[in-house]
Amino acid sequence: MPTQPVALVTGGSRGIGRGICIALAAEGYNVLINYNSNIAAAEDTLRTIEAAGGSGDLCQADIYHAEHRELLLDYCMENMGRLDMLVNNAGIAPPTRDDLLDMDEQSWDAVLDTNLKAPFFLTQAAAKIMIRQIRDKTIPRADIVNISSISAYAASVNRGQYCISKAGISMMTTLYAARLAEEGINVYEIRPGVIETDMTAGVRAKYDKLIREGFSPIRRWGTPEDVGKAVVAIARGLLPFSTGEIINVDGGYHLRHF
Ligand SMILES: NC(=O)c1ccc[n+]([C@@H]2O[C@H](COP(=O)([O-])OP(=O)(O)OC[C@H]3O[C@@H](n4cnc5c(N)ncnc54)[C@H](OP(=O)(O)O)[C@@H]3O)[C@@H](O)[C@H]2O)c1
Repeated sequence: MPTQPVALVTGGSRGIGRGICIALAAEGYNVLINYNSNIAAAEDTLRTIEAAGGSGDLCQADIYHAEHRELLLDYCMENMGRLDMLVNNAGIAPPTRDDLLDMDEQSWDAVLDTNLKAPFFLTQAAAKIMIRQIRDKTIPRADIVNISSISAYAASVNRGQYCISKAGISMMTTLYAARLAEEGINVYEIRPGVIETDMTAGVRAKYDKLIREGFSPIRRWGTPEDVGKAVVAIARGLLPFSTGEIINVDGGYHLRHF
């Protein structure tokens, strides 16, 4: 059994996932970077980790498909030798922003299956592996981190399916936190605000203006590094008596303020 703890980060190739991978590797984790289609971005993330003295590996898997999720966990156990942390980060925005009254079932299915069904069942399978390792005393404890969004509670009427998927991630966190506490696994939700990534590149000008006008009390874009730091606090075991906790990484957007 390797002595180095292992973290599996879905969608670790770009954006927030990349920030999380780099931060966890700097913390001493051996990081399995999952990606779907952009192998160049995944390789770039791994190179950055290795250049800083860290270690990791890549695994292509489209988490939308059950068989890919199974292969991803098999790859992790066969090649990394253990699993201490799962970060459910991979997610998609709706292909187009349509009014709620025009949303079609196809985009509902694509977003809900990728953003909610996939992490739910990946977590279910990963938790069984973690439970086995903890019972065998091959790992001391494990953590699961779910990346939701301020969209879990803030209504965007032109991407309702995305909001519903993120609200679902919140309840998924509560459910797994309640079920897995007795197994030695803590579960956390990280709720990012507006973060500078490819996902938000198309709405850059809109949020530049909103942020300037006070959208969040901390008037700047969030970065993948901001989210990576929150995951590191969990990875360090600094929140041992907290589970099901929501960590807002949103510049204070969630505050009701004047
Ligand atoms: N950016 C924001 O402002 C913001 C705010 C709140 C929450 N979030 C959430 O944070 C997470 C990451 O967002 P981001 O902004 O970093 O997105 P991004 O820049 O679009 O990156 C998405 C990542 O997810 C991967 N991915 C997408 N679909 C996948 C699939 N079916 N299987 C495996 N990997 C898949 C991508 O892999 P490839 O590189 O192979 O395509 C990529 O690594 C998402 O859950 C998003 O909803 C983002």
